[in-house]
Amino acid sequence: MALAVSKMLPPGRFQKESFDHNQQLQRHQYTKPGIINSELAYSALNYENCSSMEQHLIEVEGLKKSFQGNRVLNGINLRVDARQLTVLIGPSGCGKSTLLRCLNGLEDFDEGRITIGGLTLEKNCREYKQTAHKLRMTVGLVFQSFNLFPHLSVLDNVAYPPMIVKKLSKMDARAQAMGFLEKVGLREKAEMAPEQLSGGQQQRAAIARALAMKPKVILYDEPTSALDPALVDEVLDVMKGLHSEGITQIVVTHEMRFARDAADKIAFMYDGAIVEEGTADVIFSNPADSRTRQFLRRFL
Ligand SMILES: Nc1ncnc2c1ncn2[C@@H]1O[C@H](COP(=O)(O)OP(=O)(O)O)[C@@H](O)[C@H]1O
Ligand SMILES: [Mg+2]
Repeated sequence: MALAVSKMLPPGRFQKESFDHNQQLQRHQYTKPGIINSELAYSALNYENCSSMEQHLIEVEGLKKSFQGNRVLNGINLRVDARQLTVLIGPSGCGKSTLLRCLNGLEDFDEGRITIGGLTLEKNCREYKQTAHKLRMTVGLVFQSFNLFPHLSVLDNVAYPPMIVKKLSKMDARAQAMGFLEKVGLREKAEMAPEQLSGGQQQRAAIARALAMKPKVILYDEPTSALDPALVDEVLDVMKGLHSEGITQIVVTHEMRFARDAADKIAFMYDGAIVEEGTADVIFSNPADSRTRQFLRRFL
């Protein structure tokens, strides 16, 4: 049941909206707030709770990870708010890809905790495997190299994961996939094979495929690094569009112009740790850490 108070009503007059058993919108007006007020207070409270729960959609605490005794993540702490676009930058080998892989449950870690949308993954926690699997379902990952299935059409690439994982019927999955292809501007390419598409189009198809799982967050690992420079912007524009729709995204990229234009927050990673984070203004104009300054110098 929907409940709302119209701002157009005169003071002291309240309106309740609800759906009857035929799903028809019903409006009821009241002069005395009475029960309506308390219902409103309740729904406002719920909204508050909801938004504060979503405040930090992602919380990473003390994440550590070694490969054969070589420490790659050295106590990562990161918070990401819902609907934010976070750009993660840092020199090659500092652990960006490993962090993204941990965030979507692809990579095991040694210490620390990852919470995404209320789902917490901790080393040695009960049901670790199931939780990592659930995490993978709620976190999309877009790779540098697209990784589309070569034997499936673009449409089926997008339709396939929800069919397999969420048991959607082929018809529903394809209808939904068409919507996501439309969103990334590829509706007319739906029946083509991935190899018939340009790199930029393939990457946009990969983003549509990630969207098809309706993830809570999409992670991108250098999504434009394999593209001809002329094709970079069409992919960045899709990410900007998703940002304006309120989709939470974390992007590892060296596209500093994009970071400056689009990011709500930039996190600078160095040697397995996030050493500095802030708005583009702060990071680009007034970074606090000398390693951030040194890293950014090469992009000036
Ligand atoms: N599967 C692996 N096995 C061993 N070492 C790895 C593996 N994956 C990454 N590494 C090492 O971890 C470090 C961080 O790698 P990576 O996360 O790919 O960094 P970035 O994405 O920032 O370039 C590098 O030294 C890399 O060689
Ligand atoms: Mg990498």
